[in-house]
Amino acid sequence: MAHDPAKLHPESLMMSHGYDPFLSEGAAKPPIFMTSTFVFRKAEEGEKYFRWAYGLEERRRDQAMGLIYTRLNNPSLQILEERLAVWDGAEAALSFASGMAAISTAALATLAPGDVLLYSQPVYGGTEFLFEQILPRFGITTKAFPLNLPAADLERLAREYGDRLAVFFLETPANPTNELIDIAAVAGLARRLSELPRARPVRTWVDNTFLGPVFQNPASLGADLVLYSATKFIGGHSDVIAGAVTGPAALIAPISIYRGMLGAVPDPFTCWLLLRSLETVKVRMEAQAKTAEQLARMLANHPRVERVYYPAILPEGTPQRALYERQCKGPGAIISFEVKGGKAEAFAFLNAVELCKLAVSLGGTESLVEHPATMTHSDVPIEVQARVGITDRMIRLSVGLENPDDLIADLSRALDATTGSYPPAEVVAGVGQRPRAKP
Ligand SMILES: Cc1ncc(COP(=O)(O)O)c(C=O)c1O
Repeated sequence: MAHDPAKLHPESLMMSHGYDPFLSEGAAKPPIFMTSTFVFRKAEEGEKYFRWAYGLEERRRDQAMGLIYTRLNNPSLQILEERLAVWDGAEAALSFASGMAAISTAALATLAPGDVLLYSQPVYGGTEFLFEQILPRFGITTKAFPLNLPAADLERLAREYGDRLAVFFLETPANPTNELIDIAAVAGLARRLSELPRARPVRTWVDNTFLGPVFQNPASLGADLVLYSATKFIGGHSDVIAGAVTGPAALIAPISIYRGMLGAVPDPFTCWLLLRSLETVKVRMEAQAKTAEQLARMLANHPRVERVYYPAILPEGTPQRALYERQCKGPGAIISFEVKGGKAEAFAFLNAVELCKLAVSLGGTESLVEHPATMTHSDVPIEVQARVGITDRMIRLSVGLENPDDLIADLSRALDATTGSYPPAEVVAGVGQRPRAKP
């Protein structure tokens, strides 16, 4: 092939990278390799592939790995992984059955009893559950620190754990408050700690679900692993559940073995859908962010809105604004905001939207609204919710590809409902239809 992939932009590579049509009957698009197992030419070949796959024997660079069984390898997964790696400028990538599968498999493959993982708070509710309820059962210590903890205090906390500290886990922007943490500063601390005499380096992992892969590149800021719920912007159509991890080959290899053994792989059709999604991820994310910025400004000026959390409208001169400008290439399409009042007003808003759908998840082509305190983050203890600013009047909005004027009209109408003058819509049992309220 004539083009040099290193010189092309990721969006140009999404239609071709990692796939040779002439290995698949000339099909312009990669087929879905919908097979659980692969045929070996000879028994010796099967023996060799297993020895390499299970790490029983080292494979030389000039030796080609063969296909074995879809839990271990499959071209639909591999093509996707090569393209995911392109976006993050990473050596390697792995796809997973979900974002939670990606985070939990990386954690189980990396951490051992006695190890410590420090994580910035807030994080997605499922991640919080994994860290607080599951990993400690395996002897792994997890400790949350506030996103805005001063650097010196974080260093003090990290040093308390000495050699036991293995990973800093950051989620930035954080779900649902959209607050940012300084990836380069934490990765720099991890590097400094790693230079001390100690058994192994301290790693920095970043959940890049909200802004990646288009608007934030944590690896370029020093992160070792970048993790995704690919269910969100990467998938982009709210029709798949998937996850991903990108990073250096040496860190990805053990996670790959655990993925195979834990069975956390996505299915080939999901990977094929994600390949299609990656062709449009940049245009989708840019269009969604453009609309989101319009909506965030409208919300910030609305009399029924108390407060808006969205990177592009962070006040000039604040540390969060400076960090946003340093760290992110765009604001993304997730807005959190507080309505005036409390839970009743928030629910009145959620029950009144018509164009936006009342559903959890984010990053799809359709706009979604939800109530973090009682939905996505309901497993986060009430005192933690209070500490990190998840209030009962907070709404999280994921902005899709609808016309901005239509969305503004829908949000305005639903905000009117928070005054109590608009009857909350009722769900008709068994039908799922909401009667439209009379104007
Ligand atoms: C920031 C973040 N990370 C991880 C996850 C988990 O991803 P999944 O639902 O694909 O398992 C989510 C899900 O909402 C999320 O928002």
